[in-house]
Amino acid sequence: MKDFIYSYPTKVYFGEKAAGKALPAELAKIGKTVMLAYGGGSVKRSGVYDEICGYLKDAGKEIVDFSGIMPNPTYKKVKEGAALAREKGVDFILAVGGGSVIDCCKIVAAQAVTDQDIWEMEFKDHVYPTDFLPMGAVVTASGTGAEMNNGAVITNEDTNEKAGVLGAYASFAVLDPAYTMSLPAKQVISGAFDTLSHSMETYLGSPRDITLSDEIAEAVMRNVIRNIRVLLTDMNNWEARSELMWASAMAENGILKIGKVTDFQAHQIEHQLGAYTDCNHGQGLAVIHPVLYRHMYKDGVKQFARMAEKVWEIPAEGKSQEELAKEGIQALADFIQEIGLPSTFTEMGITDKSVLKKVADTCNLTAGCCKKLSREEVLEILEECW
Ligand code: NZQ
Ligand code: ZN
Repeated sequence: MKDFIYSYPTKVYFGEKAAGKALPAELAKIGKTVMLAYGGGSVKRSGVYDEICGYLKDAGKEIVDFSGIMPNPTYKKVKEGAALAREKGVDFILAVGGGSVIDCCKIVAAQAVTDQDIWEMEFKDHVYPTDFLPMGAVVTASGTGAEMNNGAVITNEDTNEKAGVLGAYASFAVLDPAYTMSLPAKQVISGAFDTLSHSMETYLGSPRDITLSDEIAEAVMRNVIRNIRVLLTDMNNWEARSELMWASAMAENGILKIGKVTDFQAHQIEHQLGAYTDCNHGQGLAVIHPVLYRHMYKDGVKQFARMAEKVWEIPAEGKSQEELAKEGIQALADFIQEIGLPSTFTEMGITDKSVLKKVADTCNLTAGCCKKLSREEVLEILEECW
């Protein structure tokens, strides 16, 4: 096991009416001017916006609205938020939304307190921000686990990069499954698949012998698969939605990563696909995963075989590790079809095939992947996804 230090800065308020417990307590600790950040308007339609404004007003806060944070948030939007935060003298940022809103706010929190350009600071100088406006998160779409980490995935339209930028941690996160109930079924499923992807990509990193983190990941993966299946017959099932919401946070709160170097090759490819096509994150992952895994499993056959047995519950008896690994990948591909996620880029509505080479040429090749992929092989993988 790799050495580690573990401590967590985010206090989680989970469950029904969690905002009513969290906000009065947390708002008492912060300054007067609160930036209320949200997306394209779902929070207004669902009533969440009015509820949160009520708590803010009860606490005597002045509200600065920062709206229109788009799925796959752009760096331009980050700059807009940072300028607004400075102009209005914002003391605290409250992100209300899914991964996109929360991620955008993590970097607004950093950019608002420095004159240096955060993108240049991180990607040119390799220096990471340490000062932030404080922030909190109210989750309305689960899957990314963004509420419990300080990594933000931001699209820089000038450079055609969708990259992980380090920003602020939320000091608290509100996870009320009721706030996700208005989410369209398609987004619920693609979000839950994102959680499965995070768990698989962590599990398939190194060390390649089983660790406690991996055994916890197996439980998270089984839980996600089981609860997605519950939702297929009962989309608003409270228990399943609750389990998936916590699984989402569990996959990205560092617990599964303890002592590990993660893989995350599928994510790196999907992020660049997102940079060029603005596609849905969970859907892109669903297409890439089985194809990528068919290309790499031989280099991590023991891990793939164990995942087949422990997660997909495929009997091992009489099978070689390779056979078992292949059956596990097929079970994943079948599951993706069963839950209505796409299996090809064309099914996702991507029409411009020329993006594939751009993605292959620009995506990060991760150190934690069991196979050292060449750019030619990534292009082959992407072409198989077509
Ligand atoms: O913008 P609004 O109107 O709010 O609509 C959103 C958006 O269109 C809608 N939505 C959210 N909550 C809703 C709702 N609609 C109805 N009812 C609700 N309660 O859902 C749509 C998608 O929202 P978005 O936040 O984009 O989805 P998600 O949570 O999947 O986040 C995706 C982003 O997170 C990044 C992805 O790359 C992508 O940019 N990721 C962040 C990670 C992290 N920080 O740890 C890890 C992930 O791997 C991922 O890369
Ligand atoms: Zn993801």
